[in-house]
Amino acid sequence: MLERIMRAFVINKPTKAEDVKLTDNPIPQVKSGWVLVKVRTFGLNHSEQILRLQEINEPYIKKPVIPGIECVGEIVDASDSHFTLGQKVIALMGGMGRSFDGSYAEFALLPMHHVFSVESELTWEELGAIPETYFTAWGSLVESLHLRGGDRLLIRGATCALGYAAISLAKAMGASVIATTHREKKSALLEETGADEIILDDSSLKGKIPFVDKALELVGAKTLLDTMQVIKPGSQAYVCCTGILGGIYALDAFDPIKDIPNGVYLTGFFSNYPTQKVIDDIFRFIAEKKIKPKIGKVYDFDNLREACLAQDSGKVSGKIVVRVPL
Ligand SMILES: NC(=O)c1ccc[n+]([C@@H]2O[C@H](COP(=O)([O-])OP(=O)(O)OC[C@H]3O[C@@H](n4cnc5c(N)ncnc54)[C@H](OP(=O)(O)O)[C@@H]3O)[C@@H](O)[C@H]2O)c1
Repeated sequence: MLERIMRAFVINKPTKAEDVKLTDNPIPQVKSGWVLVKVRTFGLNHSEQILRLQEINEPYIKKPVIPGIECVGEIVDASDSHFTLGQKVIALMGGMGRSFDGSYAEFALLPMHHVFSVESELTWEELGAIPETYFTAWGSLVESLHLRGGDRLLIRGATCALGYAAISLAKAMGASVIATTHREKKSALLEETGADEIILDDSSLKGKIPFVDKALELVGAKTLLDTMQVIKPGSQAYVCCTGILGGIYALDAFDPIKDIPNGVYLTGFFSNYPTQKVIDDIFRFIAEKKIKPKIGKVYDFDNLREACLAQDSGKVSGKIVVRVPL
């Protein structure tokens, strides 16, 4: 029998990490097309930090809202879905933690189309580092960049959870990886994760590195035009803009004719549309290639504040995972 009260982090205004606290809230009532998930772990994401610090003010955000765009857990009420009681699931995106309550809670009521069954030997903590990060890395590399064995791939802004995941996946796909960091002291971490070459990034790579075949842009609009200048033109010369780490979201006065070099293809990836098939492909690949996600640090739910403080300070390298008690 479920208790009716759960602890959760709820916000309705910009909230600094030091003000993060858990409160008692009702466990949501199940409705048709939605399932109730007992959250076991969830990862922290850069976009949740943006939501917590500023995006919460935007009119399209439900208020108050429980943040959290992803989680892993077990079905505790399958409602009218195809899921079964106790089934291990992951959930991500589709408005989670923005237009409906997300995962910074003991339970989450989630639309069944954004909940996916998963079979995996990974621990709950390892699983918590996977959904959004690996789905986005996979989508960027496979769907948008059409990455192939032998490609020389540039990952710009590689020292984020997504960057570490992209390095692991790209290496397992047979690509060679040139990873950039804006902090020299992080080079060793990128090397440990499998990057073949590490470049210290001062926001200008043009003329400083040999041409690459493809690029995953995680710094975003701030460096995108420069990134396009280091791609060897050709039928597979893709640049995928997936991140916004540089804090600039759009290109001002973008002139596609002059700004995109001839024979270079600009694309992007948005993680809002996960499917069971792709999730299955990712978990199969992770198991086959024995990939372990790079976890920066695991926090207990009671210490969510500390987890957010660590996120804001940028001191943790790798995915910050939060463990929710049973
Ligand atoms: N398109 C999509 O659907 C999608 C999905 C998921 C994530 N994303 C985006 O992908 C990026 C990574 O997300 P994440 O959740 O993996 O991030 P994260 O793990 O929270 O990583 C944040 C870290 O990135 C590092 N970083 C590297 N280069 C940076 C730069 N030029 N400026 C500022 N910080 C930099 C910083 O550490 P150091 O300064 O120590 O290097 C920072 O602490 C974010 O921009 C996120 O919004 C997009």
